[in-house]
Amino acid sequence: MSISNQIKIQPFLGVGIAFIPKFLKLIRTQDISNHNILPRHIDFFEISSLDEKQMEEEEILQWFLFLDGKSITAHIFGFRVGTKSGPSDKFISKVNKALSIIKPIFISEDLSQFKIAPTSIDTSPLLLTGETKKYCVDSLIKIKETVEVPFLLENPPISFMIGEQDFLTWFSDCLDLSNSYCLLDIGHLLSWENIVGESVIIRLKDFPLDRVVQIHLAQGMVDYTSKYYADLHGEPYSERLYEILLYLLNNCPNLKAVALEYFNLFTALSTGLNDLQRVKDITKNFLKSKPAS
Ligand SMILES: [Fe+2]
Repeated sequence: MSISNQIKIQPFLGVGIAFIPKFLKLIRTQDISNHNILPRHIDFFEISSLDEKQMEEEEILQWFLFLDGKSITAHIFGFRVGTKSGPSDKFISKVNKALSIIKPIFISEDLSQFKIAPTSIDTSPLLLTGETKKYCVDSLIKIKETVEVPFLLENPPISFMIGEQDFLTWFSDCLDLSNSYCLLDIGHLLSWENIVGESVIIRLKDFPLDRVVQIHLAQGMVDYTSKYYADLHGEPYSERLYEILLYLLNNCPNLKAVALEYFNLFTALSTGLNDLQRVKDITKNFLKSKPAS
């Protein structure tokens, strides 16, 4: 079955939470019952930041026994979409092996163009040129041909941009030219809005919203002097984030999942997960008002 058809036949998964695999390990090592820790009123779990090393770990399957058989999506590090070399064959074979164990419905990764270890990609400038667009398209085509689960390219957090092209046009060109799908992270869109001073909602009217399959929500913060965007992955959310969420819910016909991202789920749990409940309510109301397709 083609990737496009795999996405189209998938029902709407609902609202899920994304957290790092270390959290699952911690639950296991401390022998905490997941029923006491993980919120049960969610529709799917997203495993965040699964890297090459973690994918090789023997006990990988054990991590997921705690998830009560709920649907899983996974955020995987290392495709290096947008770099000249792109994903290596060795990396892709490791990914496919892990996918056969974890069985996620979709996988995703932020667009990355540079690997500046050990820092995260939000400190890297985005290089927006015709040449880097070609690297991105080539990587996406390779992924479509070799990876066994649909891959969603995520818009990255942006603190710096270099190059002559507009980011949203560059990003949508990459999706169109490779016939790929994407994950839109609303906090990351806000980091772009902050830098360029344009309204995301106005600019999304020209974006191929039928390619949006998943949404990420997370609280971030902009340093008021440097405009550096810190992608903090937690609650509480700004009202602007909710405005964009509503716009996307109403305008993305192939949307299947909304995930709230938490770096530290323990901290988020201690604040009551109010935003999780609000996002669930908004999404439920939206689904009720949507005519059955
Ligand atoms: Fe994200």
